[in-house]
Amino acid sequence: MRTLPSALRPSIPPLPSLPRLLHIVKSPFQSKNMACILAISNQKGGVGKTTTSINLAAALAAVGQRVLLVDLDPQGNATSGLGLDREQPGGVYPLLLDAVDLHDQVRTTSLPGLDVLPATSALVGAEVELVEEQGRERRLRRALDPARAAYDWVLIDCPPSLGLLTLNALVAADRVLIPLQAEYYAMEGLSQLLRTIAAVRKGLNPDLVREGIVVTMFDQRNNLCRDVADQAVELFGEEVFTTRIPRNVRLGEAPSYGSSIVEYAPKSTGARAYLALGEELLARHGHAVQRLREAH
Ligand SMILES: Nc1ncnc2c1ncn2[C@@H]1O[C@H](COP(=O)(O)OP(=O)(O)OP(=O)(O)O)[C@@H](O)[C@H]1O
Ligand SMILES: [Mg+2]
Repeated sequence: MRTLPSALRPSIPPLPSLPRLLHIVKSPFQSKNMACILAISNQKGGVGKTTTSINLAAALAAVGQRVLLVDLDPQGNATSGLGLDREQPGGVYPLLLDAVDLHDQVRTTSLPGLDVLPATSALVGAEVELVEEQGRERRLRRALDPARAAYDWVLIDCPPSLGLLTLNALVAADRVLIPLQAEYYAMEGLSQLLRTIAAVRKGLNPDLVREGIVVTMFDQRNNLCRDVADQAVELFGEEVFTTRIPRNVRLGEAPSYGSSIVEYAPKSTGARAYLALGEELLARHGHAVQRLREAH
């Protein structure tokens, strides 16, 4: 196996006792009929967080799961990518800053089973406004409490930073999924993210677990892509999803039609990859994978 130049290898902090075995035992969330809250985070920009959030959410909904996608990025790409209006008031902003009811802020999508808590343009100011607030890191956790009983999965699309919004996501989440773009600087900044996750586990959310790493924009013919994916497996072992998301133009086109890949191009390699990722995630959480395969 080729290895990346040493400068690209992240210095991995000592990992807290990560319950890797959780990957092969039945998920505590599913067995208690409670949603699993999954933050999709990497402070590096453009690595596929939003594409993964939208399409993993859609893939889970397509096989009958009840899914809430929370757009926590002021860019609002997950909101517009699912055809929702960012200018309509409501969404995640008043949940963070006012005492409003979650269910009043949620919008449905064209895909049955997939709801969205949208990012409106007001969210741009939230990080600054939250600084003054009491319990500012726990606002999202508190707001998402009613979602536990109403959904099977809550996916949070994080912004490309490790600021207060991402901190709110990590405090609200049970697990973190890290999209890793198969490119030269992939590992850059990963140590910082791992340190942040470890710090959150030490203080604000001791139950937070890494769900794992998903390699995105993968091109099998490209040596560098293969090196990055191999390196990820070398460093993180089974935490890396065996499903790799290929580079696929359909995935780039779908948001401009306000649609997930599952609806826009269901036969594309991108759709098949995200359905496989959903299946792998469900299998890790003890679901009957056989039945899902039959559904597609
Ligand atoms: N597998 C893929 N194949 C082709 N294009 C992709 C793929 N994944 C993402 N893209 C495109 O790459 C760009 C960045 O993806 P995306 O917006 O999902 O990243 P992000 O991490 O959410 O970005 P940001 O950090 O700005 O929030 C987008 O234009 C998206 O359409
Ligand atoms: Mg994004």
